[in-house]
Amino acid sequence: MKGLILSGGKGTRLRPITHTSAKQLVPVANKPVLFYGIEAMVQAAITEIGIIIAPETGGEIREAVGDGSRFGAQITYVEQDEPLGLAHAALTAEAFLDGDSFVMYLGDNLLQGGITELVEAFESSAPDALILLTPVPDPQNFGVAELADGRVVRLVEKPAEPATDLALVGVYMFTAGIHDASRAIEPSPRGELEITDAIQHLVDGGLRVEPHIVRGWWKDTGRLDDMLEANRLVLDRVDRRIEGELVDSQCEGRVVIEAGAVLERTTVRGPAVIGAGARLTDCYVGPYTAIGEDCVICEAEVEHSILLSGCTVSKLEGRMESSLLGHNVTISRGTRQPRAYRFMIGDNSEIGIL
Ligand code: TTP
Repeated sequence: MKGLILSGGKGTRLRPITHTSAKQLVPVANKPVLFYGIEAMVQAAITEIGIIIAPETGGEIREAVGDGSRFGAQITYVEQDEPLGLAHAALTAEAFLDGDSFVMYLGDNLLQGGITELVEAFESSAPDALILLTPVPDPQNFGVAELADGRVVRLVEKPAEPATDLALVGVYMFTAGIHDASRAIEPSPRGELEITDAIQHLVDGGLRVEPHIVRGWWKDTGRLDDMLEANRLVLDRVDRRIEGELVDSQCEGRVVIEAGAVLERTTVRGPAVIGAGARLTDCYVGPYTAIGEDCVICEAEVEHSILLSGCTVSKLEGRMESSLLGHNVTISRGTRQPRAYRFMIGDNSEIGIL
């Protein structure tokens, strides 16, 4: 069995971060979200992994993941010229998959508990496809499955009146039959070859598509709020580890301070992680915060936020919260007169002022 991780796409909902970077490399608890997917596959003994990449962000993903040896995997990169849908991505990888069964994993998704159980279920009952489902409070925002006699009978993308609350999770198991199904369907109104349509095509052809209900949490990190929520869920499980230097500072609860970080007159209230080389002086870091490598925070309070590497936050009057800062962002209070807000901000940025 092979693995296919989809790390192309446009990532419009995470702009401006995705103007310059792949959303699959945004860190959750200081680890790129994509790495969780690779690790889940390796844990399930799937080590031949293809990664779908887009022309714009593929280089960065290749650089971050490499040949896969550090995960115990062999990675093959498959470039998808345009993000024409999840079924199109699976078709693009047909040569790599070479007739094998495979698990397809959306590179911006996180699944607690991994995929081992799912792979075992697929291997023991040998259906044509197996889809992961989870009950959600707002099924109208998801692909929704209808079941009968332990099988999937209908899939509807974002139904106005959902027949069930079972949403499709971004992990699927397929036999090679999915390729013919993907070739047989037409693009949807948004111009994509939808994986839900391809799976429906399998069902309509009398093939066996089985459901598997997820027990732990599942998060699609495609939007800011989901990213912060994923960060919260993962941080909730970190083990305390203090390797950096604390000078007149306290760390309460589940806190990771990486080696080379220096905290002076600072309080960190976990769960939180502080990356290597970060420098925190006279500040407060509140729960559910991940501070990337080499960030500098000084006379400021930060909570429930993700800061990518190299950010500087200093002399803020109010607490910064629920924020996602890209690499090397600077937020600081100036001393120049007249007192005014001064910004240099990229396209599609969002700023909330007190
Ligand atoms: P989505 O989040 O559905 O799509 P997107 O990345 O284009 O984001 P947005 O809707 O904000 O513009 O994609 C889910 C995952 O699948 C994500 O990791 C990107 C990947 N993907 C591909 O690799 N190829 C594709 O053609 C599409 C549509 C997505």
